[in-house]
Amino acid sequence: MGHMVTGRVLVAPSILGCDQGSLASESRRLQDAGADMIHLDVMDGVFVPVLTVGSGVAGAVARAVEIPVDAHLMVQNPDGLVDAFAEAGCSCITVHAEVAVHLDRLLRRIREAGCMAGVAVNPATPVDFLRWVAPAVDLMLIMTVNPGYGGQEHLAHLHGKVSMARELLDSFGGGEALVAVDGGVNDENAEQLVRAGADVLVSGSFVTGAADPAEAIGRLR
Ligand code: DX5
Ligand code: ZN
Repeated sequence: MGHMVTGRVLVAPSILGCDQGSLASESRRLQDAGADMIHLDVMDGVFVPVLTVGSGVAGAVARAVEIPVDAHLMVQNPDGLVDAFAEAGCSCITVHAEVAVHLDRLLRRIREAGCMAGVAVNPATPVDFLRWVAPAVDLMLIMTVNPGYGGQEHLAHLHGKVSMARELLDSFGGGEALVAVDGGVNDENAEQLVRAGADVLVSGSFVTGAADPAEAIGRLR
């Protein structure tokens, strides 16, 4: 149901490609350019080869904007980070299905911490892996690149996963979960992704690399 109900696709710029010393002001700029959410890529150098930012930066970003901040935790052990990112002011915490032995418990803990429970799946991970946690999911993040870097080629063959995610959440979910897509999203694939069922378009380099981010966000919408 997602955007069919709200009628409006949400654009969540990823700030991975922004000046890492100015993430708060860059986030504010993106909010002023029309972003609906800020997508903060948190990488631990283990789950993915790159090391980025922690909950301290998440708090600086959350304090700088009024729009929701989604912390995309590309980390091997997200359990220990939930409270810190919730207290930092993140509205959504998204963990990877591939790292959680007790995914159902982890998602419920994120909700108990007051955040939307997000779960991400890498290209190789079937959406059906999430069937039995669907009632505990508020946002399902379909990766259309292999995580760890911005500016990578969009894996278009994965569009089918977007539709499967929508169907799975509608059949097994508890309510109004959102389907988000992350990786190489731009104005050439946005329409197909939305038609496939995407409610949230995460976009990094297409938006933050644009001369005019407002125009880029408008093009996505
Ligand atoms: C990749 C991150 C993505 C990335 C998107 O591991 O999770 O959010 O920053 O950047 P683009 O849109 O440039 O692929
Ligand atoms: Zn991301």
